[in-house]
Amino acid sequence: TPAAVGIDLGGTNCRAALVGPQGRIGELLRRPTRMGADYAAWLEDFAGGIDELLRQGQALGLKVTAVGMGAPGLIALDGTVTTSPNLPALDGRPLAADLAERLQLPVVVANDANAIAWGEALFGAGRDFSSFIGLTLGTGVGGGLVLDRRLWLGADGAAGEVGHWTVVPDGRPCGCGNRGCLEQYASARALAVLARERIAAGEPSALAQIAAGELTSRQVGDAARQGDALALAVLEEAGGYLGQVLGGIANLLNLDGAVIAGGAVDSFDLMHPAILRELRRHVFAVPGRRLVVVPGQLADEAGILGAAALTGFSEQL
Ligand code: BGC
Ligand code: NA
Ligand code: ZN
Repeated sequence: TPAAVGIDLGGTNCRAALVGPQGRIGELLRRPTRMGADYAAWLEDFAGGIDELLRQGQALGLKVTAVGMGAPGLIALDGTVTTSPNLPALDGRPLAADLAERLQLPVVVANDANAIAWGEALFGAGRDFSSFIGLTLGTGVGGGLVLDRRLWLGADGAAGEVGHWTVVPDGRPCGCGNRGCLEQYASARALAVLARERIAAGEPSALAQIAAGELTSRQVGDAARQGDALALAVLEEAGGYLGQVLGGIANLLNLDGAVIAGGAVDSFDLMHPAILRELRRHVFAVPGRRLVVVPGQLADEAGILGAAALTGFSEQL
């Protein structure tokens, strides 16, 4: 059986697995990304993790022909990381070439959100859409455009960078150097940051008991489910910005779908009303418009499957 290693390198966590034409084979490895400033040391450790999967593939009698990886940031078409706002140690690094040399295998590196969108397009919530955006709410906010069933890369491979869509002029500073970017309000990380700020400002919340550095987006979602007003307000705000941006994107591209993925997808149902309300306020009323907003179906596996598929290891994909 042909197979590839699929990897989803996130700003905070990394997941990887062997992938065959039908989907994942064998176990899903999860690790913290833990990338300090030392790229070379990280690369060596990371390649060691891939070696583990290659051994697993051998034991299973697979022919592993390529490694596909989604990574956060702008990725040039040759797999060099141009800039990575949330993993700056990757800036300027020829990640695909470095891994290919170390592993002696072809390596494809794509933008993480593109890989996730492509995984959902082939195997998940995007299967029935002709044109959709996959929005990934993780450490940052990423976007992957699937237009007329093709992954849209753009002139510089930088299409879909909606995390840096300005939603608040002169708003919160962003890792990209600008201010007021969507990802400072609607990423999984932002949900925790915004909740912490409201707590620090004296708003009452059950979340106030959690040590500031330990608060996660999942806890914000859990508290909202218990009716916590602060948590509900944070999710409402995030959902509103997502809806506003989706309205602009839908006007531009006439999408029939938006797939929300990434860590904050746990809270999709809590954000959905605000997303739809603001989407309706900002989108041009096209009679019969088919746009629906749905959660991703593949959780942690979307990026792995999409990245593996992008290597073209199997004709069937
Ligand atoms: C980066 C994107 C990435 C997203 C999610 C953003 O900050 O600019 O390239 O897809 O985070 O990781
Ligand atoms: Na993208
Ligand atoms: Zn930004």
